[in-house]
Amino acid sequence: MTESQRVLRLLRQFESPNITFVSRDGSWPIVWSRAKGVRVWDADGRQYIDLTAAFGVANTGHANTRVVKAAKQQVSRLPHAMGDVHPHPLKADLARTLSQITFERWRCGRHGKTIFGNSGFEAVEAALKTAMLATGRPGVIVFEGAYHGLGYGALNVTHRDFFRAPFIKQLGGFACFAPFPSAECILNFGDSGGSHEDQIKLEKTMTVIKRIARKHSIGAVLAEPIQGRAGIRIPVRGFLSALRSWCDANDVLLILDEVYTGFGRTGAWFACEHENVVPDLICLGKALTGGFPLSACVGKADLMDAAWPDATGEAIHTSTFLGNPIGCAMALAQVEELKARGLVERSARLGNLLLRQMCTMRAPSSLLLNPRGMGLMAGLELLRRDGSPATSEAVSVLKEMLRCGYIMLAEGEASNVLSITPPLTIGAADIVRAVKAIEKALVKCAQ
Ligand SMILES: Cc1ncc(COP(=O)(O)O)c(C=O)c1O
Repeated sequence: MTESQRVLRLLRQFESPNITFVSRDGSWPIVWSRAKGVRVWDADGRQYIDLTAAFGVANTGHANTRVVKAAKQQVSRLPHAMGDVHPHPLKADLARTLSQITFERWRCGRHGKTIFGNSGFEAVEAALKTAMLATGRPGVIVFEGAYHGLGYGALNVTHRDFFRAPFIKQLGGFACFAPFPSAECILNFGDSGGSHEDQIKLEKTMTVIKRIARKHSIGAVLAEPIQGRAGIRIPVRGFLSALRSWCDANDVLLILDEVYTGFGRTGAWFACEHENVVPDLICLGKALTGGFPLSACVGKADLMDAAWPDATGEAIHTSTFLGNPIGCAMALAQVEELKARGLVERSARLGNLLLRQMCTMRAPSSLLLNPRGMGLMAGLELLRRDGSPATSEAVSVLKEMLRCGYIMLAEGEASNVLSITPPLTIGAADIVRAVKAIEKALVKCAQ
């Protein structure tokens, strides 16, 4: 028995059955043993290129030297402190850094204040609580396809039925869904965007928002600037600006969930910068640390001050590991590394190369390919000739790519969008090779 087989057998025996999918033919999954940069080694010593950055976390590369050094120093010095009671210095340093790279950089005349959490969904829940406290209005407008995490609060605003249906009886039902206006065009690639169809979609979305607001007491609009798990869905140009204007006119808060899109993923520090839109609250996670469960909800200081009462010794929102020192040390190093190596700009540059390569792919005759992306957040939608999602083909491509040494994921409700979100440190040659490998895998799998 190989080491991978041993591990998977243990998981089958001792892990809850709904977590790790293990295919009968042994083609999925691999067992990760170590990783460096864009490369991953499995428990049997095989090497892979990671085209996922492990769910968009490893933006500075796996086991980044600066980040690892910071973690090592912190783990031996102080691995844990007392979240909302006795703080540690790095929590303060990181809160200031997050303010500097968001609201202060955006020059909106304000600084930011942070609520730390552990997972991305907790950052979303902190934002929802802030909106409730600030406005007194419980309703939240969210978008079809949205993924904001699976905790009970966040599940209310996550759209996909697959996740919600088993628990629907315990959900609060404060969310109202509007259509997400996906762009038809390929952004980032010389397309002017803003086609007539795009404008009609945006108008439809805004009409639904207005209709919802007439019926419900709405305190916030919550959106992903690009829907990641829904299949790398890029909205039409002007979407975020339209939301900002509507929120301003209606005294409603704009919450942007940049858990996936943050920290350079889309070729800007944060995706809202592509439209120069400043949210009231921004949710961060994933690449914040490069590999430690830490998240943050950063809000405009005056909003946070108005929403949350001063602490009296018993915080109304906290958790045991709030602002964990190892996570804070890693996040500070991660931000330094992104800056020092110009990785945000690199994401924009290599994203263009990636999209260009994807656009030159030749589709097998049975499939239509729909490539799209911003920075190093790209998706390749696979459709059959009748327009239906090519789910089984996408799954076969994932397995074939894994066999050829590439780690990939499929996103979208029908799992027919191959997502490409590698570490921002990936080289141009690796991108070109990866796209060629996908093209080959498509031919093989689309019989
Ligand atoms: C946009 C977005 N928000 C929130 C989350 C939830 O983050 P976590 O899984 O860390 O709770 C995710 C996870 O994929 C996400 O993509």
